[in-house]
Amino acid sequence: MKFETAAIHVGQDPDPVTGAVIPALSLSTTFAQSSPGKPTSFDYSRSNNPTRQAFERCVAACEGGKESAAFSSGLAATVTLLHLLKAGDHIVCIDDVYGGTQRYFRRVANNFQLEFSFVDFEDLQKVKAAIRSNTKLIWVESPTNPTMKIVDIRQVAAIVSKHDVMLVVDNTFMSPYFQRPLELGAHISLNSVSKYINGHSDVIMGVVTWNDESLGQRIRFLQNSLGGVPSPFDCYLANRGLKTLAIRMRKHESNALKIATFLEKHPKVRKVLYPGLTSHPQHEIAKAQQHGFGGMITFFIDSDLAGAERFLKKCKYFTLAESLGGVESLIEHPALMTHASVPAEVRQQLGIDDTLIRISVGIEDLDDLLEDLNNALHAV
Ligand SMILES: Cc1ncc(COP(=O)(O)O)c(C=O)c1O
Repeated sequence: MKFETAAIHVGQDPDPVTGAVIPALSLSTTFAQSSPGKPTSFDYSRSNNPTRQAFERCVAACEGGKESAAFSSGLAATVTLLHLLKAGDHIVCIDDVYGGTQRYFRRVANNFQLEFSFVDFEDLQKVKAAIRSNTKLIWVESPTNPTMKIVDIRQVAAIVSKHDVMLVVDNTFMSPYFQRPLELGAHISLNSVSKYINGHSDVIMGVVTWNDESLGQRIRFLQNSLGGVPSPFDCYLANRGLKTLAIRMRKHESNALKIATFLEKHPKVRKVLYPGLTSHPQHEIAKAQQHGFGGMITFFIDSDLAGAERFLKKCKYFTLAESLGGVESLIEHPALMTHASVPAEVRQQLGIDDTLIRISVGIEDLDDLLEDLNNALHAV
């Protein structure tokens, strides 16, 4: 089954009693049993829920994986995966990881005797050198947020295969439509559903997908034991959003490519980072492992903080807001907003300075978006 078909049909069989074509929103927390300890399919909605199950099955098919588990946020999914480890284990994490993941790793998880090394994955020798006898997990994002670095997932998977180490790829920026990490050798693909999968900026949710059955049993056990599960209503909305993921991603990308090209030529813009541009240092890796380049663009204004603020305040259709991946275009200043929790010296090392702007290109009319950016750039 091709992606577009899977996103609409897998896990979505018509209801056997009513014939309803759309999976019902099943709000019940508990399910009647015919005799003690003999539930039919479900017993309690933290453990499993019909609406959640429909969504999970559909995501698994879209990611090319065996099974998925949904969580109450992308970070709840991350926290649950870290519980696969035990005190004394070591994690190698990409240095440019999402700010919230970084905050959890640096300021919470490290209080539980987990050890972290934050490494630049552009140099795979550094990755090899960072692996120790107690390394149990490698955590990457590709492209990274916000500096749009591409990790060669196949190469990292090849390094990992020589060790007893699990590779997790945060696939949020690409979504399963543009990248399927399990097919590239990752053990787990993680998405913040709050972004492209739901796609309408009205749900906070996360999902992880895997192939290995015994790993899946451990994740399911943790999903139930830790309880960071999403509400059935959020699963219902995300399930609906997923049906249009393919068509949305294509429009995000076609708008983004033209906007990135426009920005690259603009005199008030110093540098543009978009994997679809040939000027992106890892454009060839992106082409080899992705099925498209996505809707996220990072660029540097040729000015200072005050100039960046003037520009941001002037945008009309690009709403000044955190998050990404919704149908509407958003713009933000990572140093003051999404990445403010990243220590200042780390931001400096990564090049997240006061002139760096991140945009999530929506699916509005391209000319309106170009005009909006052009007008705002005059204010720089
Ligand atoms: C790349 C990435 N991963 C994970 C997350 C966390 O997801 P959530 O906000 O759903 O907890 C985010 C949120 O911005 C993100 O951008």
